[in-house]
Amino acid sequence: MARLEIHFGDNLEVLKRIPDGSVSLVYIDPPYNTGKIMHRHEISIERRGEGHLGFEDRRYASVRVGTKSFSDIFHQDEHLLFLEERLVEAKRVLADDGSLFLHMGVSESHYCKVLLDQLFGRSSFMNEIVWAWDYGARTKRRWPAKHDVIFWYAKDPERYVFDLDACDRLPYLSPHLVGSEKAERGKTPTDAWWHTIVSPQSREKTGYPSQKPLGILERIVKVHSRPGDMLCDFFAGSGSFGDAATRNGRDCILVDNNRQALEVMQERFKEHPDVVWRDWDARPRASEPSDPAPARVLQAEA
Ligand SMILES: C[S@@+](CC[C@H](N)C(=O)[O-])C[C@H]1O[C@@H](n2cnc3c(N)ncnc32)[C@H](O)[C@@H]1O
Repeated sequence: MARLEIHFGDNLEVLKRIPDGSVSLVYIDPPYNTGKIMHRHEISIERRGEGHLGFEDRRYASVRVGTKSFSDIFHQDEHLLFLEERLVEAKRVLADDGSLFLHMGVSESHYCKVLLDQLFGRSSFMNEIVWAWDYGARTKRRWPAKHDVIFWYAKDPERYVFDLDACDRLPYLSPHLVGSEKAERGKTPTDAWWHTIVSPQSREKTGYPSQKPLGILERIVKVHSRPGDMLCDFFAGSGSFGDAATRNGRDCILVDNNRQALEVMQERFKEHPDVVWRDWDARPRASEPSDPAPARVLQAEA
């Protein structure tokens, strides 16, 4: 199994210690500058005298048992300056044939693209991937915003990893028009990726706000790196990118400065055989209850 190195701390400080050219693929999903504290509430369904009627005619109630959150409040210039310092380091640590993927919400993505063009050069811009989903409430006041943007920049636009054969395949919309062999194989994706979010009912859910789905991240890992490569996500959150990397035989450096993110990663990777923790004591805490936690349903709130 591939190795994970997980750092608790400010990513700028950690990045400065990573050697030049040592990372093949960087994926980052920084705060989007939504101007909000991002929350995800954990709801436990418990048997209660009052509450809604459920299994075997017993009554159940939803009880809020915890909230995980991180701050996403910046001034516009601050947000770009904050990113710029870290993107300069990201470019430095990338191998000559390495790639950077920056995941961003639509309210900031255009500013980020201009910044990336300045730092990497316009010729290094490879794709703007649109990740679209359909889940959740729909406003009636405008078109419901249901996509993020993922920019791909290659450090050297003449030399980069793009292994399309390693990509998952999609069913043709009209399979009868392409013949049975092609229909059986499916087609490769375009730059518009439909994929559901990590929903409250999803088996992937960790309870961390803004957790990204493995389906999206595994596609990036498989197509844009080779087994045995070193990958990095220095805005790691729940550690989804590290999970996608190690499931596919790549080593990965993860960084986050939020204690709750580290706690989530500690739980997520507790069975992982090769994790190195930096500036984080990953021994089980004495105060942790020995009883198994109740089944939890998670509710997202942005
Ligand atoms: C949008 S979330 C990432 C979610 C992640 N992609 C996932 O799938 O769970 C952004 C993360 O960046 C972290 N972060 C913000 N500023 C940071 C900094 N200076 N150093 C390290 N992590 C930081 C936040 O704590 C938060 O966990």
